[in-house]
Amino acid sequence: MSSFERMWADLAPVGRSASTGGYRRFAWTTTDATLREWFVGEAQGRGLDVVPDRAGNLWAWSGDPDADGPGLVVGSHLDSVPDGGAFDGPLGVVSAFAALDELRARGSAPRRPLGIACFADEEGARFGVACAGSRLLTGALDPDRARALTDDQGTTMAEALSSAGQDARALGRDDETLRRVGTFLELHVEQGRALVDAAAPVGVASSIWPHGRWRLDLRGRADHAGTTRLADRDDPMLALATAISGARASAERHGALATVGKLRVRPNGVNAIPSEVTAWLDARGPSEDDVRAVVAEVAAAAGTAAAEESWTASTDFDVPLRDRLAAVLGDGTGAPAPVLPTGAGHDAGILSAAGVPTAMLFVRNPTGVSHSPAEHAEPGDCLAGVAALARAIEALS
Ligand code: GLV
Ligand code: MN
Ligand code: MN
Repeated sequence: MSSFERMWADLAPVGRSASTGGYRRFAWTTTDATLREWFVGEAQGRGLDVVPDRAGNLWAWSGDPDADGPGLVVGSHLDSVPDGGAFDGPLGVVSAFAALDELRARGSAPRRPLGIACFADEEGARFGVACAGSRLLTGALDPDRARALTDDQGTTMAEALSSAGQDARALGRDDETLRRVGTFLELHVEQGRALVDAAAPVGVASSIWPHGRWRLDLRGRADHAGTTRLADRDDPMLALATAISGARASAERHGALATVGKLRVRPNGVNAIPSEVTAWLDARGPSEDDVRAVVAEVAAAAGTAAAEESWTASTDFDVPLRDRLAAVLGDGTGAPAPVLPTGAGHDAGILSAAGVPTAMLFVRNPTGVSHSPAEHAEPGDCLAGVAALARAIEALS
């Protein structure tokens, strides 16, 4: 069994729902603690030094980035969306350890300090802000705002961090950690079918679409479902229904994407007209202006303001780095590896925005499905990803 297969099997049961087969790996929970312990164990088993940063991200170093750095860092995240797939995040972390094993086995230890990163709360599934760990690290998320974010139970991030044994007061931009990172490279399962169309197991990212999350709070008046005449109702669900179907039409008009995937209804009773509904809008597209236009139109249809919970501007990855990797990972006939944009957000995008030379590798996903238990990558393609990552590390270090 390869080290990749062994690690993959170790992680498979952690946070897996027996009813859906999907993963529920939310930040600062006991499941998250198990994943962090796993990361530390794998790192220490390879003789790496594990250093947490002020934002709760974990860094495992081979070599000393303070004395001989800055280093090359590879890695991704271990948390998931609700009922997510096995690959989004863990593929990048497991492949990072496996690539180091491959390099060591052929006596090709990196000459430059090599870090393996595990970012905290990438999906923002619990506290709502995507890439919370990397945003805190780079200063893109204000620590006071982060500490006050709440989950669906009303637990603040500060309380969750404290329960997990982390010092919530330490949250904040971490220049000492950032100074160690000369280059960041994240391998990720593809969340689309471009590599299927290109008949290639591995590709290189060009860019990330601008994207964000907005909260819409609509208020009405609670009343009896069986006795309140239609004309007398103040039902916020109706305005929300109009806004949701309008979001689809607006996205089509602007060549963008819009999704309402999470709702909170109060009081949430079958026979009660809601007093309040809250919906979260995820909007993305090739152009920032079009994304902003969709959000404005949806807010107007809902008759309320759209409160921005997170925003990531358009990301163009470092062009020389991207071209170098595409050349190094070509098919051997002189053709470079495919280069593709994505609509998915990543910690790599946040580091890139903070000025770190950054690149991403994608591993083919046969159906393109992601954020779903059906997310998949064939074992042979995962191993091709590990080999590509090892080649990339050799080329960059
Ligand atoms: C992260 O996976 C995102 O794109 O929402
Ligand atoms: Mn994801
Ligand atoms: Mn991811």
